[in-house]
Amino acid sequence: MSPDTVSLCPPSTAPASAAALRALIESRRAMRRFTDEPVPDEVLRDCLELAVLAPNSCNLQPWSFQVIRQPALLERLHTVCMGQHAAKAPVLIAVLARPDTWREACAQILRDWPEAEVPAPVRHFYRKTAPFQYNQGPLGLLGWLKRQLIRLVGWRRALMRSPNSHAQMRTWAVKSTALAAQNLMLAVQSHGYASCPLEGFDEVRLRQVLDIPRQAVPVMLLAVGRAHERGIYNPRLRFALEQQVTWL
Ligand SMILES: Cc1cc2nc3c(=O)[nH]c(=O)nc-3n(C[C@H](O)[C@H](O)[C@H](O)COP(=O)(O)O)c2cc1C
Repeated sequence: MSPDTVSLCPPSTAPASAAALRALIESRRAMRRFTDEPVPDEVLRDCLELAVLAPNSCNLQPWSFQVIRQPALLERLHTVCMGQHAAKAPVLIAVLARPDTWREACAQILRDWPEAEVPAPVRHFYRKTAPFQYNQGPLGLLGWLKRQLIRLVGWRRALMRSPNSHAQMRTWAVKSTALAAQNLMLAVQSHGYASCPLEGFDEVRLRQVLDIPRQAVPVMLLAVGRAHERGIYNPRLRFALEQQVTWL
């Protein structure tokens, strides 16, 4: 369903970057203790720039980030995270999925298109196709109608079955946002800092501390800082690939 029609592939740098990427991914661990050393804003900015290069659904970029550095706010968030050690970091980044921003994103893509003319298929996609796909209507009624229509048409041909409800819109946005979060963690790692993704927080209290739009979904809080020497609690454990992968 992607409107991307132009292929602008950078030249391959495969052999060197495969080893570098493996080393980077292997070095990332969930860090549960950080030193007090602050993380420079330039580093955070660079990491966020890489986060938003993540692949995302229809390029609608359904995410937003809140970078928390103020000590008073960090203190309150530590409580929101139920006093977890990992949440005692010099920086917390609230990673939010935004099922509510697709309409403005469609308009912005057409406004900011990086060529003199917006190609006709792209214009059609963001004016017609995407609004049909993502608009669920008041109380999700349009979504319900689309689900009935899809049930009928789907007998005859393959169709995208979701997102056709507000709940499915949240899943839709969370998928892309989780990819951005992973980019963010690897970027942090590449700068010599460490991170810990946190879903162990009280969402009601989180919304009392941070100004989070009502429809936004807090996917995780990302603790960022310089690794403490006793910050990794356990040796790495992963299940055997054979157990998790099917080759067809
Ligand atoms: C969505 C998500 C939520 C997580 N929440 C927490 C958390 O609340 N507290 C915590 O200490 N670790 C949390 N973690 C970290 C995981 O426990 C950790 O990634 C996992 O044990 C694997 O360890 P590794 O990242 O060092 O390989 C979370 C990870 C993810 C992806």
